[in-house]
Amino acid sequence: MRDRASLCAAYSEGMTALVRPVQPSDQRAVGDIAYATGFFGASARIFFPAPALFRALWVAAYFRGAGFAGFVAEVDGQVVGYVLGAPDGHLYQRGLRRAAPEILAALPTRGLWGCLPYLWRAALWHAPQADPARFPAHLHLNLLPQARGHRLGERLLRAHLRTLAGAGVPGVQLSTTAENGAALGLYRKLGFQEAHTRLTPLWTPWLGRATRQLVLTLELRQGPPA
Ligand SMILES: CC(C)(COP(=O)(O)OP(=O)(O)OC[C@H]1O[C@@H](n2cnc3c(N)ncnc32)[C@H](O)[C@@H]1OP(=O)(O)O)[C@@H](O)C(=O)NCCC(=O)NCCS
Repeated sequence: MRDRASLCAAYSEGMTALVRPVQPSDQRAVGDIAYATGFFGASARIFFPAPALFRALWVAAYFRGAGFAGFVAEVDGQVVGYVLGAPDGHLYQRGLRRAAPEILAALPTRGLWGCLPYLWRAALWHAPQADPARFPAHLHLNLLPQARGHRLGERLLRAHLRTLAGAGVPGVQLSTTAENGAALGLYRKLGFQEAHTRLTPLWTPWLGRATRQLVLTLELRQGPPA
């Protein structure tokens, strides 16, 4: 895997990254990136010391029928980022049901105890939702640290939004926090608007403070952002 310095050097020498539709064989690479970036862009290990369970809970559903219009960014044949999402809540729930055997199989004999504080807190303070009739789709976007700042996030997101709009999906929503400054900049640049915001204590044990949670929405009836 390229480190940040070698990736920057490769870019300055004119190397380009490929953005392509996600394939079933990408599941493990995408799951690893989800885990490597799951704590405000850094590793999820700090709050979830069970990587296989994390991959199964957060990624498997999209590879079991929930996923639609997902893309990955690839550099030198290595997947360095992804955008994944479901066009509506029903398909996502179906994907989760289909992923249930994988989730059960990923339950660790050791490490589960360390995940319980997060799981418990997430159940208590789950993210608010925007109107699912207007914004039925949701998405997740993550890049490895060494791949950030090269327009890959924007390329992935635009490709995803074009496909959603082309399929007649009326709108998309996502949940993020004030800590994700780069993501907020990108979402605002592409026209996402704030539907809900609230302070949440969900992450306080690991961040040392409450954080502002945001639900952002984008209408797609008029097409993807220019
Ligand atoms: C958020 C993320 C996907 C952005 O991808 P990226 O490839 O680094 O960003 P891009 O180079 O495509 O930048 C596109 C736009 O995003 C915004 N942006 C990017 N980096 C930024 C930063 N550090 N601060 C503020 N805005 C930033 C800018 O608006 C930029 O456009 P501009 O340069 O014309 O102003 C990436 O940084 C990432 O994966 N971060 C960690 C995980 C994360 O937060 N995921 C989102 C969870 S909701």
